[in-house]
Amino acid sequence: MTSAQCIVLPDNDEGYPLDMFCVPKHYEKDLENILIPSGLINDRIERMARDIVHDFNQQGLVALCVLKGGYKFFTDLLDKVKLLNRNLEDSVPLAVDFIRLKSYVDDKQSSEIEVIGGDNLDNLKGKNVLVVEDIVDSGHTITKLLSLLQKVQPKTVKVASLLVKRTTRSIGYRPDYAGFEIPDLFVVGYALDYNEYFRDLNHICVINEHGKVKYST
Ligand code: HPA
Ligand code: MG
Repeated sequence: MTSAQCIVLPDNDEGYPLDMFCVPKHYEKDLENILIPSGLINDRIERMARDIVHDFNQQGLVALCVLKGGYKFFTDLLDKVKLLNRNLEDSVPLAVDFIRLKSYVDDKQSSEIEVIGGDNLDNLKGKNVLVVEDIVDSGHTITKLLSLLQKVQPKTVKVASLLVKRTTRSIGYRPDYAGFEIPDLFVVGYALDYNEYFRDLNHICVINEHGKVKYST
């Protein structure tokens, strides 16, 4: 399949001021702006779910959640797929699986991408797998994961990523389904973290210097 069309946020996108939406008090000083409000995330995911159901129809799929950052996107996407399943002739049988990866310390990619938990990937043999990721940044994490997956011989593998970063560090990987293409900024919220902080923020926001210093390792 050709790589996905998605909503492209330009480099000069200033997002929305923090006082236009509700943001937890404990993060107010740590954020530059709100880049993607949660309502817009939700609406975009609704359409991604429709595209996925349309493409997979009746074949069934195993949705593989890449933890921890992918958990919000995963649950919201699957809720929408399940809603469509209740109302469509061509419903998609759905199974779920989990893998936990760690690759970022502060806002830098660590040299090794670690698999630090999850189900036994052998269960994916012969299945149509949909990998559900929060973000494709350089592309190193997802390509490493895809090569791990190939070893267990799934029938097909597709990738849905909520975000794709436009960065000179990119190795050129594009997911099959993408929500938003964003500028080269470190974003947090909607389960994306900075050293485990900001997962409890609904909107996708740009972290500021104050936040980076306050929550650095
Ligand atoms: N934010 C959070 N986690 C990430 C990012 C980001 O911008 N890029 C890669 N992992
Ligand atoms: Mg992370």
